[in-house]
Amino acid sequence: MSTRPTSGRIAIEHVVPVSDRLALGPELDAIFFPASTTKSFPDETARLAFRERWLGRYLSSQGDHLLVARDLKADRRLAGYLVATLDNPGLTTRFADIGYFRSVADLTERFPAHLHVNLQEDYRNQGLGSELITVFLDVATELGCPGVHVVTSATSRNIPFYTRNGFANQRQLEWADHEIVFLGRTLSV
Ligand SMILES: CC(C)(COP(=O)(O)OP(=O)(O)OC[C@H]1O[C@@H](n2cnc3c(N)ncnc32)[C@H](O)[C@@H]1OP(=O)(O)O)[C@@H](O)C(=O)NCCC(=O)NCCS
Repeated sequence: MSTRPTSGRIAIEHVVPVSDRLALGPELDAIFFPASTTKSFPDETARLAFRERWLGRYLSSQGDHLLVARDLKADRRLAGYLVATLDNPGLTTRFADIGYFRSVADLTERFPAHLHVNLQEDYRNQGLGSELITVFLDVATELGCPGVHVVTSATSRNIPFYTRNGFANQRQLEWADHEIVFLGRTLSV
Protein backbone atom coordinates (compact mmCIF):
# COMPACT_ATOMS: atom_id res chain seq x y z
CA MET A 1 0.00 0.00 0.00
CA SER A 2 1.37 3.45 -0.84
CA THR A 3 0.18 6.54 1.02
CA ARG A 4 0.10 10.13 -0.17
CA PRO A 5 -0.80 12.82 2.37
CA THR A 6 -2.91 15.42 0.56
CA SER A 7 -3.38 17.88 3.40
CA GLY A 8 -2.77 17.73 7.13
CA ARG A 9 -6.12 16.03 7.45
CA ILE A 10 -6.64 13.59 4.57
CA ALA A 11 -4.33 10.84 3.30
CA ILE A 12 -4.92 8.99 0.05
CA GLU A 13 -3.84 5.34 0.03
CA HIS A 14 -3.41 3.04 -2.96
CA VAL A 15 -4.58 -0.35 -1.68
CA VAL A 16 -2.87 -3.02 -3.76
CA PRO A 17 -3.32 -6.51 -2.22
CA VAL A 18 -6.70 -8.01 -3.13
CA SER A 19 -7.11 -9.35 0.41
CA ASP A 20 -6.76 -5.80 1.81
CA ARG A 21 -9.26 -4.45 -0.74
CA LEU A 22 -11.82 -7.16 0.06
CA ALA A 23 -11.40 -6.50 3.79
CA LEU A 24 -12.48 -2.89 3.16
CA GLY A 25 -15.80 -4.07 1.67
CA PRO A 26 -18.10 -3.00 4.55
CA GLU A 27 -16.48 0.48 4.80
CA LEU A 28 -16.73 0.95 1.03
CA ASP A 29 -20.36 -0.24 1.00
CA ALA A 30 -21.21 2.45 3.56
CA ILE A 31 -20.19 5.04 0.93
CA PHE A 32 -21.19 3.19 -2.24
CA PHE A 33 -24.87 2.49 -1.51
CA PRO A 34 -25.84 5.95 -0.18
CA ALA A 35 -23.97 7.64 -3.09
CA SER A 36 -25.68 5.50 -5.77
CA THR A 37 -28.72 6.83 -7.58
CA THR A 38 -30.32 3.35 -7.47
CA LYS A 39 -31.81 3.14 -4.01
CA SER A 40 -34.05 0.07 -4.07
CA PHE A 41 -33.64 -3.45 -5.41
CA PRO A 42 -36.23 -6.17 -6.13
CA ASP A 43 -34.26 -8.67 -4.00
CA GLU A 44 -30.87 -9.40 -2.43
CA THR A 45 -29.55 -11.07 -5.62
CA ALA A 46 -30.20 -7.86 -7.58
CA ARG A 47 -28.57 -5.75 -4.83
CA LEU A 48 -25.43 -7.92 -4.88
CA ALA A 49 -25.26 -7.90 -8.70
CA PHE A 50 -25.45 -4.09 -8.67
CA ARG A 51 -22.67 -3.91 -6.10
CA GLU A 52 -20.51 -6.35 -8.09
CA ARG A 53 -21.03 -4.36 -11.31
CA TRP A 54 -20.05 -0.94 -9.98
CA LEU A 55 -17.72 -1.78 -7.06
CA GLY A 56 -16.99 -5.43 -6.24
CA ARG A 57 -15.22 -6.51 -9.40
CA TYR A 58 -12.59 -3.76 -9.02
CA LEU A 59 -11.73 -5.07 -5.55
CA SER A 60 -11.30 -8.71 -6.53
CA SER A 61 -9.31 -8.21 -9.73
CA GLN A 62 -5.57 -7.91 -8.97
CA GLY A 63 -4.80 -5.59 -11.89
CA ASP A 64 -7.46 -3.03 -10.95
CA HIS A 65 -7.02 -0.07 -8.61
CA LEU A 66 -8.50 1.09 -5.31
CA LEU A 67 -7.64 4.47 -3.79
CA VAL A 68 -9.08 5.36 -0.40
CA ALA A 69 -9.12 8.76 1.30
CA ARG A 70 -8.84 8.59 5.07
CA ASP A 71 -9.49 11.37 7.57
CA LEU A 72 -6.45 11.38 9.86
CA LYS A 73 -8.23 13.68 12.30
CA ALA A 74 -11.30 11.43 12.66
CA ASP A 75 -9.89 8.00 13.55
CA ARG A 76 -8.89 7.36 9.90
CA ARG A 77 -12.55 7.41 8.89
CA LEU A 78 -13.06 6.53 5.22
CA ALA A 79 -14.01 9.81 3.51
CA GLY A 80 -14.16 8.45 -0.02
CA TYR A 81 -12.77 6.05 -2.58
CA LEU A 82 -11.97 5.64 -6.25
CA VAL A 83 -12.00 2.31 -8.09
CA ALA A 84 -10.65 1.95 -11.60
CA THR A 85 -9.29 -0.34 -14.25
CA LEU A 86 -6.88 0.21 -17.12
CA ASP A 87 -8.51 -2.67 -19.07
CA ASN A 88 -10.07 -1.48 -22.33
CA PRO A 89 -13.71 -2.65 -22.01
CA GLY A 90 -13.87 -3.01 -25.79
CA LEU A 91 -11.16 -5.69 -25.72
CA THR A 92 -12.27 -7.78 -22.74
CA THR A 93 -15.42 -9.72 -21.84
CA ARG A 94 -15.18 -8.49 -18.22
CA PHE A 95 -17.57 -5.61 -18.86
CA ALA A 96 -19.90 -7.35 -21.34
CA ASP A 97 -22.77 -6.80 -18.87
CA ILE A 98 -22.55 -3.03 -19.49
CA GLY A 99 -24.32 -2.59 -22.82
CA TYR A 100 -23.12 0.92 -23.65
CA PHE A 101 -19.52 -0.22 -24.13
CA ARG A 102 -20.55 -1.81 -27.44
CA SER A 103 -21.43 1.66 -28.78
CA VAL A 104 -18.17 3.33 -27.77
CA ALA A 105 -15.46 0.83 -28.82
CA ASP A 106 -13.81 3.54 -30.95
CA LEU A 107 -13.62 5.84 -27.92
CA THR A 108 -12.38 3.23 -25.44
CA GLU A 109 -9.43 2.64 -27.75
CA ARG A 110 -8.37 6.28 -27.08
CA PHE A 111 -9.57 6.36 -23.45
CA PRO A 112 -9.24 2.73 -22.24
CA ALA A 113 -9.20 3.23 -18.46
CA HIS A 114 -12.33 4.02 -16.47
CA LEU A 115 -13.07 4.94 -12.88
CA HIS A 116 -15.83 5.32 -10.29
CA VAL A 117 -15.40 7.84 -7.47
CA ASN A 118 -17.66 8.39 -4.46
CA LEU A 119 -17.38 10.38 -1.23
CA GLN A 120 -19.20 10.42 2.09
CA GLU A 121 -21.70 13.27 1.94
CA ASP A 122 -19.92 15.42 4.54
CA TYR A 123 -16.63 15.30 2.60
CA ARG A 124 -18.07 16.57 -0.72
CA ASN A 125 -17.43 20.01 -2.28
CA GLN A 126 -14.03 20.42 -0.62
CA GLY A 127 -11.84 19.28 -3.53
CA LEU A 128 -11.30 15.73 -2.28
CA GLY A 129 -12.86 14.08 -5.35
CA SER A 130 -10.44 16.05 -7.54
CA GLU A 131 -7.51 14.91 -5.38
CA LEU A 132 -8.52 11.26 -5.84
CA ILE A 133 -8.80 11.79 -9.62
CA THR A 134 -5.35 13.47 -9.74
CA VAL A 135 -3.71 10.57 -7.89
CA PHE A 136 -5.35 8.02 -10.19
CA LEU A 137 -4.36 9.97 -13.34
CA ASP A 138 -0.74 9.91 -12.11
CA VAL A 139 -0.94 6.13 -11.59
CA ALA A 140 -2.48 5.59 -15.04
CA THR A 141 0.12 7.86 -16.69
CA GLU A 142 2.98 6.01 -15.00
CA LEU A 143 1.55 2.75 -16.31
CA GLY A 144 1.54 4.13 -19.88
CA CYS A 145 -2.23 4.46 -20.27
CA PRO A 146 -3.17 6.87 -23.13
CA GLY A 147 -6.52 8.04 -21.72
CA VAL A 148 -9.24 7.68 -19.09
CA HIS A 149 -13.01 7.91 -19.36
CA VAL A 150 -16.07 8.13 -17.13
CA VAL A 151 -19.67 7.56 -18.11
CA THR A 152 -22.41 9.38 -16.25
CA SER A 153 -25.98 10.49 -16.71
CA ALA A 154 -26.31 13.39 -19.19
CA THR A 155 -28.18 15.37 -16.52
CA SER A 156 -25.90 14.53 -13.60
CA ARG A 157 -24.70 17.20 -11.24
CA ASN A 158 -21.21 15.65 -11.35
CA ILE A 159 -20.50 16.67 -15.00
CA PRO A 160 -18.92 20.07 -14.05
CA PHE A 161 -16.72 18.17 -11.58
CA TYR A 162 -15.34 15.98 -14.39
CA THR A 163 -14.93 18.84 -16.87
CA ARG A 164 -12.98 20.83 -14.28
CA ASN A 165 -10.75 17.76 -13.98
CA GLY A 166 -9.95 17.81 -17.70
CA PHE A 167 -12.58 15.35 -19.01
CA ALA A 168 -14.39 16.43 -22.18
CA ASN A 169 -17.70 15.27 -23.62
CA GLN A 170 -16.86 12.78 -26.38
CA ARG A 171 -20.36 11.41 -27.07
CA GLN A 172 -23.90 11.40 -25.72
CA LEU A 173 -25.96 8.24 -26.16
CA GLU A 174 -29.08 6.48 -24.91
CA TRP A 175 -28.78 3.52 -22.54
CA ALA A 176 -31.46 1.80 -20.47
CA ASP A 177 -34.00 4.47 -21.43
CA HIS A 178 -31.95 7.46 -20.41
CA GLU A 179 -29.29 9.73 -21.86
CA ILE A 180 -25.70 9.15 -20.76
CA VAL A 181 -22.50 10.94 -21.62
CA PHE A 182 -19.03 9.53 -22.29
CA LEU A 183 -16.36 11.92 -20.96
CA GLY A 184 -12.72 11.32 -21.90
CA ARG A 185 -9.38 12.77 -20.88
CA THR A 186 -6.13 12.15 -22.76
CA LEU A 187 -3.00 11.43 -20.71
CA SER A 188 0.46 12.56 -21.76
CA VAL A 189 2.47 9.36 -21.89
C1 LIG B 1 -18.84 13.67 -7.56
C2 LIG B 1 -17.86 13.71 -6.37
C3 LIG B 1 -16.94 12.51 -6.38
C4 LIG B 1 -17.03 14.99 -6.53
O1 LIG B 1 -16.10 15.11 -5.46
P1 LIG B 1 -16.00 16.51 -4.65
O2 LIG B 1 -14.85 16.47 -3.75
O3 LIG B 1 -17.35 16.79 -4.04
O4 LIG B 1 -15.72 17.49 -5.87
P2 LIG B 1 -15.04 18.90 -5.87
O5 LIG B 1 -15.13 19.54 -4.49
O6 LIG B 1 -13.70 18.75 -6.49
O7 LIG B 1 -16.01 19.61 -6.86
C5 LIG B 1 -17.38 19.87 -6.51
C6 LIG B 1 -18.26 19.34 -7.61
O8 LIG B 1 -18.64 17.99 -7.34
C7 LIG B 1 -19.96 17.73 -7.88
N1 LIG B 1 -20.84 17.33 -6.78
C8 LIG B 1 -20.87 17.82 -5.53
N2 LIG B 1 -21.82 17.18 -4.82
C9 LIG B 1 -22.40 16.27 -5.65
C10 LIG B 1 -23.43 15.31 -5.50
N3 LIG B 1 -24.11 15.16 -4.37
N4 LIG B 1 -23.76 14.54 -6.57
C11 LIG B 1 -23.11 14.69 -7.74
N5 LIG B 1 -22.10 15.59 -7.94
C12 LIG B 1 -21.76 16.37 -6.90
C13 LIG B 1 -20.43 19.01 -8.51
O9 LIG B 1 -20.07 18.96 -9.90
C14 LIG B 1 -19.60 20.05 -7.80
O10 LIG B 1 -19.39 21.16 -8.61
P3 LIG B 1 -20.38 22.42 -8.49
O11 LIG B 1 -20.06 23.06 -7.19
O12 LIG B 1 -19.99 23.23 -9.69
O13 LIG B 1 -21.77 21.88 -8.51
C15 LIG B 1 -18.62 13.78 -4.99
O14 LIG B 1 -19.33 15.00 -4.90
C16 LIG B 1 -19.58 12.64 -4.81
O15 LIG B 1 -19.20 11.61 -4.27
N6 LIG B 1 -20.84 12.83 -5.25
C17 LIG B 1 -21.90 11.84 -5.11
C18 LIG B 1 -21.66 10.60 -5.93
C19 LIG B 1 -21.28 10.84 -7.38
O16 LIG B 1 -21.91 11.61 -8.11
N7 LIG B 1 -20.22 10.11 -7.81
C20 LIG B 1 -19.77 10.10 -9.18
C21 LIG B 1 -20.48 8.97 -9.92
S1 LIG B 1 -20.16 9.05 -11.69
